[in-house]
Amino acid sequence: MNPRKKRIAIFASGEGSNFEAIAEACRRGEIPAEVVLLVCDRPGAKVMSRARRLSIPAVEVAPAEFPTKEEYEKWVAAKLEEYNIDLICLAGYMRIVGPHLLALYDNRILNIHPSLLPAYKGKDAIRRAFDAGERDYGVTVHFIDASLDGGKIIKQKKIPYSGSDFEELEKMVHEVEHRLFPEAICQVIER
Ligand code: GRF
Repeated sequence: MNPRKKRIAIFASGEGSNFEAIAEACRRGEIPAEVVLLVCDRPGAKVMSRARRLSIPAVEVAPAEFPTKEEYEKWVAAKLEEYNIDLICLAGYMRIVGPHLLALYDNRILNIHPSLLPAYKGKDAIRRAFDAGERDYGVTVHFIDASLDGGKIIKQKKIPYSGSDFEELEKMVHEVEHRLFPEAICQVIER
């Protein structure tokens, strides 16, 4: 067993509540790891202000400024190497990871998705499930593969809800996310 704490990079594009939940769980000692880098692909996203508040190093990068996706991922990979990253957590990262990063971090990239995968892959999963009149919602943490929200499931939690208040449901889902992602990270680290 390597006694060194695992070094996590989080990739995020927006709000960043999962980023913060993971960083705080690490600081409380609930995960034997530390969040040492945020990679944000949407300059100006709210997650950046959370990183500043938590004093976590962050890079903002606009993929459109690179000639190809591979060039973008090579740039990101160099940052990951610079920070000696062991594990990548995708927390609201609105982009499919390409073959370059996948090969470098095989079985070391986790994603969180607000549905009971394989149901409701893709954007607006909670809204689509709600509009379809589901009674069981959920959260899944999984290893990624080359497909959208695909890959081996690490942890999944069902959330029964039969109410009619979408905001209430969304809040419940996010609260579960903030617990499930840290638990899944622990499971992966301790495997
Ligand atoms: C979460 O619902 C996550 O499951 C999905 O994107 C959302 C990100 O929320 N992949 P936040 O940015 O962590 O607040």
